[in-house]
Amino acid sequence: MKRSMMCGEVRALHIGTSITLQGWVHTVRDHGGLIFVDLRDRSGLAQVAVNPTDAPAVHAVAATLRDEFVLEVEGVVTRRPEGSENPRIGTGEVEIRATRMDVLNPSLPLPFPVAEETQVDERLRMQYRYVDLRRPRMARNLQLRHRTIKYIRDYMDSQGFWEIDTPIMANPTPEGARDYLVPSRLHPGMFYALPQSPQQFKQLCMVAGVDRYFQIARCFRDEDLRADRQPEFTQLDLEMSFVSDPEDVLALCEELFTGLTQTLSTKQVKFNPWPRIRWQDAMDRFGSDKPDLRYDLEIVDVSAAAGATGFQVFKGAVEAGGVVRGIRVPGAADRFTRKGIDELTELVRNSGAKGLAWAALGTETRSSFVKFLAEGEQAALWAALGAGPGDLVLLVADSLDVARTSLGRLRQDLARRLDLASSEIMAWAFVVEFPWFEKDEETGRLTFMHHPFTMPYDDDLALLDTDPLQVRAKAYDIVCNGKEIASGSIRIHRADIQEKLFRLLGYSPERIQTNFGHILRAFQYGAPPHGGIAPGIDRIVSLLADEENIREVIPFPKNQSAQDLMMGAPTPVAPEQLKELHISAVQPPATASTPG
Ligand code: AMO
Ligand code: AMP
Repeated sequence: MKRSMMCGEVRALHIGTSITLQGWVHTVRDHGGLIFVDLRDRSGLAQVAVNPTDAPAVHAVAATLRDEFVLEVEGVVTRRPEGSENPRIGTGEVEIRATRMDVLNPSLPLPFPVAEETQVDERLRMQYRYVDLRRPRMARNLQLRHRTIKYIRDYMDSQGFWEIDTPIMANPTPEGARDYLVPSRLHPGMFYALPQSPQQFKQLCMVAGVDRYFQIARCFRDEDLRADRQPEFTQLDLEMSFVSDPEDVLALCEELFTGLTQTLSTKQVKFNPWPRIRWQDAMDRFGSDKPDLRYDLEIVDVSAAAGATGFQVFKGAVEAGGVVRGIRVPGAADRFTRKGIDELTELVRNSGAKGLAWAALGTETRSSFVKFLAEGEQAALWAALGAGPGDLVLLVADSLDVARTSLGRLRQDLARRLDLASSEIMAWAFVVEFPWFEKDEETGRLTFMHHPFTMPYDDDLALLDTDPLQVRAKAYDIVCNGKEIASGSIRIHRADIQEKLFRLLGYSPERIQTNFGHILRAFQYGAPPHGGIAPGIDRIVSLLADEENIREVIPFPKNQSAQDLMMGAPTPVAPEQLKELHISAVQPPATASTPG
């Protein structure tokens, strides 16, 4: 290669040498005489100085430069004049006095600037993703993604895992989303499904004696998109044989992600060991199955003390089988104005609560409800909350579900307002002992909470016939800073138990046979006990990169309407192509134009 080094690598130790750099014009400044070019590649910037007297031919070229022209520059590394150093960049002590400059390729005027961190229209960014990815922030994210995957591969290899690839054209594996389908030309009317995860293949690898499998696996799910969801995303998918205790899988994850955080970021891992929180406790203490543990603000059940008061809102809720729960915010009595409290009230109302009872304790307690309580009743309530002067107390009286979710959201909102959630902390933790079933709110039917291949706790097997909602699954999640990072479980490896759970889920014998006959059969040919987990790589990288949306750490993501605006996917296809596939496209009656 002609280039001697990357732009970001030029240092004082190179002073006096002649070097060749290649890259893009980040900025060009004409000082009416001297022209300065900041030359950029993925490693950073180097300042090139062009002097009209020393190098008139080079100066003539430099005068034609525009942003993002591709250049080759030869020159001598020199120390920048005193006072003009730039301590913010690695190359800030030096500049390159150009002796030759070739334009390798010009650029049209840009759709948006690469050099400035400005708010750019999302659609433009997606349409010109190749320009967008040149921006230093995006280059940093791409590199972090690479290093994350590399770290994971090295770690998994060191632990005896084999990386094994599994088919993209496969058949449906239920993970709770819609499938993307691929029509078969050779088998009219039949379809492959893109994998929502390689779940069944990795279990079949265990039956095949692989013992320890992993894959940096692409997964496809047709579901409503959010900041942390893409239709196409990437998991570290892993599975281990001869494990029957969740702890075997958890210990491995704990070591992997503690090491990864400490190696690839300056963030602080909050817990060692990571807490294992039972699902019930997570819901009760934090109002969420993905609690943010960077701060306390735990939810406290005060049903006994509050239900015993004469205040109808509390008493009535407890008598109706509900609960009174609340959060004590230490020292925050004076931090919320009436308007602030109204906003908090609005927030819990939006998650279904009927109201928010509040008290700012102090010499003169301000409160929406203490006037309804006798003095002894007040004292008992404060004692139940551990509250004292200076504290703010916030209570919700409602059904268990509403109290949990509304206070869970309130807890997060309080932390945001009080600035308690530092992005420099990584509060990794496990949530364990999930219920096996939950009730589908629309149909009222039982459905799985994790997925149908999860082993119930041995002690709970008898409850399958009598009280299925009480059955706990050997399922676990990794959570970090209020986000679900991974889900996994110890699996069922016996055909009889697996078939029973399919039946309890209401799957017809035909569906069981079509979709799962192969795995039920495999379990009868010597399936070892096994278990695994699948951390979402996009979510991990976005946390490490301090990006709210996983789209920022995916090289070529889809937009909110699942479109690729750069490539123009999805597209209509030629009628002949559809015909070959034995497909005819039917437009929905009122063709709603897709946004985006
Ligand atoms: P699950 O469906 O919980 O489990 O997915 C595991 C992890 O994958 C990530 N994830 C996503 N990331 C981005 N966009 C999406 N649409 C998306 N959906 C999921 C999350 C999530 O925690 N086969 C099981 C794992 C197992 O049991 O081993 C599975 O896929 O980080
Ligand atoms: P009221 O007697 O209806 O005026 O209520 C007195 C206080 O209790 C007001 O601040 C209400 O917002 C609050 N409140 C009402 N319903 C609830 C509820 N379900 N949970 C908590 N506080 C409530």
